[in-house]
Amino acid sequence: MRQVWITKRGGPEVLQVREAPDPEPGPGEVRIRVAAAGINFADILARMGLYPDAPPLPTVVGYEVAGTVDRAGAGVDGLLEGTRVGALTRFGGYSDVVVVPAAQAYPLPDGLSFEKAAAIPVTYVTAWIMLVHLGNVRAGDRVLVHAVAGGVGQAALQICRWRGAEVIGTASPSKHERLRELGVAHCIDYRAQDFQAEVKRITGGAGVDIALDAVGGESFRKSYRSLAPLGRLYVFGASSLAPGKKRSVVSALRGLMAMPAFRPIPMMNANRGVHGVNVGHLWKRADLLTAMLRDIVGLVADGTFDPVVDSTFPFARAAEAHARMQDRQNFGKVLLVP
Ligand SMILES: NC(=O)c1ccc[n+]([C@@H]2O[C@H](COP(=O)([O-])OP(=O)(O)OC[C@H]3O[C@@H](n4cnc5c(N)ncnc54)[C@H](OP(=O)(O)O)[C@@H]3O)[C@@H](O)[C@H]2O)c1
Repeated sequence: MRQVWITKRGGPEVLQVREAPDPEPGPGEVRIRVAAAGINFADILARMGLYPDAPPLPTVVGYEVAGTVDRAGAGVDGLLEGTRVGALTRFGGYSDVVVVPAAQAYPLPDGLSFEKAAAIPVTYVTAWIMLVHLGNVRAGDRVLVHAVAGGVGQAALQICRWRGAEVIGTASPSKHERLRELGVAHCIDYRAQDFQAEVKRITGGAGVDIALDAVGGESFRKSYRSLAPLGRLYVFGASSLAPGKKRSVVSALRGLMAMPAFRPIPMMNANRGVHGVNVGHLWKRADLLTAMLRDIVGLVADGTFDPVVDSTFPFARAAEAHARMQDRQNFGKVLLVP
């Protein structure tokens, strides 16, 4: 098999294609010939040495693939050889062959391309947990979505629109026109404007019902302050710890120091809540994640959701794929195709 390795900590240039023998599926596992693999911001943090969950370097990261089952281990039901599947992978997704527990894979509907399918698992399941499973987003709610043009951001936008909620989104200004066409009610250029003041202005001081924040640092505090009574803040990442392509300990520490400490009594009196989400720490609930993904894929099949693929890169150009996300160029999901 061919894989994209993070050979050492550094910029995108440390990504390298290497060959290895094909893995064999054990009992309860399936082997997938990968047609497309998703890139997530966490992979970039892993490459920079800023992601404590990642295996020690050198390693192969990657949380999701779409492809075809080519061998099923003993005791696997329902995912026969030849089945088109999507799957969550606990690292190792940047490969043209992966082996995963069958519980992490699910069949794909006919007509859904492998590329769209590879854009689904992490982005939609993360947004679904926050907005549907926990957040109970309703018609008329106002939702602040940071990085609304990114992978998770686009999934969140589609879930909000499906539920009839209004989205206020932050993004680079070059993306605003397309975001408005896709239904974002208000776009904020978060580097030129103070998003807290903008949310206050847009909502006439009322605030938002839900805020999704993976920017981290000071942004968590401002998102919390942007909540209406009964508002919920979901904190699920810290993109701001990686302002450049190589690790800066000073920037990372500055971002960590700027994180707020939430205090229960003021939270109680403000009727506001804060909830952390990390899908990468839910492997013991793969059954729950896969059940959500089956529901999500059903909503893709009936046209409710339409995964947005920004671009695809062959393995040999993985460095360009990482750079595209870090240069804030992507609109939707960036994929690797073997
Ligand atoms: N906890 C979880 O389970 C979980 C799961 C998935 C993702 N996440 C987190 O959610 C966030 C979004 O992830 P994603 O994979 O969908 O990526 P993404 O949003 O597609 O990431 C790239 C985009 O983020 C924006 N951005 C904001 N700050 C940035 C920075 N310092 N450097 C580069 N880009 C920056 C840029 O868009 P604009 O500047 O135009 O907004 C860029 O185009 C990440 O923080 C990720 O770690 C968490």
